[in-house]
Amino acid sequence: MANSDFHDKAYDAGTLAKLRIFELYAQEWIPVFVSQPEPKFKEIHIFDFFCGPGTDGSGVSGSPLRILQQLHGYYAKGMAGWSRVRIVVHLFDEKPKKVEQLCETLKSETWQIVGVEVDCRALTFQDALAEFLPLLSNSSIAKLLIIDQFGVDAVTDEVFRGLITFPTTDFIFFLSSSTLYRFRDHPAIKQKIEKPEDSYNVHRAAVDYFRRLIPANEPMFLGSFSIRKRSNIYGLIFGSHHPLGMHKFLQVAWANDEIAGEANFDIERANIRPEEGILDLDVMRPNKVREFEDGLEAALRAGEMTSEADVVRFCIEAGMTARHSAPVLKKLKNEGVIVAEFQVPDVRNLRSPRPIRTK
Ligand SMILES: C[S@@+](CC[C@H](N)C(=O)[O-])C[C@H]1O[C@@H](n2cnc3c(N)ncnc32)[C@H](O)[C@@H]1O
Repeated sequence: MANSDFHDKAYDAGTLAKLRIFELYAQEWIPVFVSQPEPKFKEIHIFDFFCGPGTDGSGVSGSPLRILQQLHGYYAKGMAGWSRVRIVVHLFDEKPKKVEQLCETLKSETWQIVGVEVDCRALTFQDALAEFLPLLSNSSIAKLLIIDQFGVDAVTDEVFRGLITFPTTDFIFFLSSSTLYRFRDHPAIKQKIEKPEDSYNVHRAAVDYFRRLIPANEPMFLGSFSIRKRSNIYGLIFGSHHPLGMHKFLQVAWANDEIAGEANFDIERANIRPEEGILDLDVMRPNKVREFEDGLEAALRAGEMTSEADVVRFCIEAGMTARHSAPVLKKLKNEGVIVAEFQVPDVRNLRSPRPIRTK
C-alpha cells in the first residue's frame, strides 16, 4: 500500500477489506447512540483523520463516504433518538487537494443528511488532535476515531497514550506492513517471534507492544485484526473502554463474508489453486485460531482464569469472539481440568461473571 498516487489507482483487496472493517465498525457504533428515544449522549462525533478524497481512481467509496453512507441509512430508517443527538462528522486530511475533491463530492444532495453536520477541512492529524483535545477529553461526548494512516507512524507511543485516556472514545487505527515489520526488530519483543517471517506473530507482537503502553489501572480493551495480501500485511488495532462494544465489533468482523470465508480456509486449502482469489484475503485465520486456542488452553490449565470475564477479556484481546473459546472450554471440561457452568462466556455478565474452577 505505497502512498504515492494511492488514490489515483483502484483500492486493492486488502484496502477494501480494511475499509469494510471501518464501515462495519461505524455501522455498529452509530445506533448505540441514536437508537434510543432518550439517548444517553447528547452529542456524538466521528473523526476520519486521514480521509483522502472520498474515492479511489475508479470511483469506489473510501472511508468518509462509507461513514456517511451508514449515517444516511440510519437516518432513512428513522432511528428514535436521531433528532435528539447532535451528530458531527469530521473529515480531515493534510492534503488540501484531496479535501477539496471530497468537499466537492459532498455538495451533492446524496450526501446532505438531515441532522448530520460535516466538518471537512485540510488539517493534519497532529493539529486535529490538538484542536479537539477539549472535546476528545469530554466524557459527555461519544467519539469514534478512525485513523487510516499510511505506514508513517502517526500513532506514536505518545499519541497512543493520549488515545487511551480519551473517555467514551473508541478508536481504530491501521498499521502497514512496513510499520509492522519494524516491530519484529524491537528488542523487547524479538524473542517472542520464533519465525520472524511469520506475519501473524509480527502483528501480534505489535498489539502486545501497544498493550504494554496501557497502564494497569486503565480499563481498556485492545483488539486487532490482520489482513494479508500477498507479501503485505495490514494490521488494524481497535480500542474501546467498553467490552460490549468491542465484542460487537468482533462478532460483525467475523461474520463478514470475506473474513468469515477464512474460517473455511484450512479445510478447503487442499482444493484451492494458488491463483484463486481467496488467497488474496488471507486473514491468517488458521494461525490465528490455533494460537488463540493454544494460549487460552495454557492459561486455563495454569489456573489463570477464574471466571467467564477473564475468558471474555482474553478473547477480545486476541481479536476473537467469546464463541471462539467454546471448543477449548468444552475440551478442558471433558478432561476434568476445569469446572464451569457455561458453554460460551456471556459478555453481558462481566459485572457478575460465572466462575471457572480449576481442578
Ligand atoms: C491511506 S490514505 C487514507 C485513505 C482513506 N481513508 C480512504 O478511504 O481513501 C492516507 C491519507 O492520509 C493523508 N495524510 C498523510 N499524513 C497525514 C497527516 N499527518 N495528517 C492528516 N492526513 C495525512 C494522506 O494525504 C492520505 O490521503
